[in-house]
Amino acid sequence: MIDAVGNPKNLLLLGGTSDIALAIARRYAETSKPKVIIAARPGARRDAAVAEVEGYGLTTQVIDFDAAVEGSAESAVRDAFTAGDVDVAVVAYGVLGDNENDWTDPLAARRLAEINYASAVEVGVLLSNAMKAQGHGRIVALSSAAGERARRSNFVYGSSKAGFDAFYTGLTYALADYGIKVLVVRPGFVKSKMTKGLKPAPLATTPDAVADQVVDAVRAGKEQIWSPKLFQLVMLVLKLVPRPIFRKLPF
Ligand SMILES: NC(=O)c1ccc[n+]([C@@H]2O[C@H](COP(=O)([O-])OP(=O)(O)OC[C@H]3O[C@@H](n4cnc5c(N)ncnc54)[C@H](OP(=O)(O)O)[C@@H]3O)[C@@H](O)[C@H]2O)c1
Repeated sequence: MIDAVGNPKNLLLLGGTSDIALAIARRYAETSKPKVIIAARPGARRDAAVAEVEGYGLTTQVIDFDAAVEGSAESAVRDAFTAGDVDVAVVAYGVLGDNENDWTDPLAARRLAEINYASAVEVGVLLSNAMKAQGHGRIVALSSAAGERARRSNFVYGSSKAGFDAFYTGLTYALADYGIKVLVVRPGFVKSKMTKGLKPAPLATTPDAVADQVVDAVRAGKEQIWSPKLFQLVMLVLKLVPRPIFRKLPF
């Protein structure tokens, strides 16, 4: 259960090697000692994530999860909830892809859409059913500002996040009747593994800064946040830019 000050007892990270997900665990470790369930693909990054989380003084449970493998989400969510209630589940996995390759390669485009959208929808349904059964829970869905208006430079990723965002926003409405809250998080550019080597965009932020906002928003029961906060305004303005101009913007 989430305690009186908003700390989860059990925290599930789907995409447990994500820099943002690990920063969320780190942030919770400052005020409580949740068990962290790391659902991720086996390998050195997962081993490092476990060592990192245990280094914060937290206990861990490791679960195999590969979003590209059929049946993996179902068994991962089942295993996570078998060990006890999951108070907060973070849907953190995703791939940025290579837009210029992806929009010309059908299989690459499909792979990206399957991981970022189709699998995330399946995971959302699985988490909803499990949280309805336990009678409580919070889902944190890492969407992206890129999904709000797809840009020429990353529209394959942007389109997958648009679908992701619409689904988890709808889930917010559907689960409200069950007392389960969903937080949709829309970061701009975050300096993480995903963006390593890319030139930081204006208002670039860090996994720690996103995590601070996420933990505060979960405590406050919010349903949507942008990271940094100013991105909400930026996106509002960008959405109003006429298409003939928008398509020529250099980003
Ligand atoms: N970084 C940004 O600028 C930014 C901005 C907006 C939104 N986001 C979103 O925030 C979330 C977290 O991203 P991040 O910045 O923390 O990047 P990250 O550190 O690269 O995390 C992404 C994670 O997704 C996992 N993943 C990729 N394919 C997978 C698969 N088939 N099955 C299971 N896991 C898989 C990776 O696991 P492996 O270790 O196994 O590769 C990786 O840990 C993503 O959904 C991303 O789209 C990021």
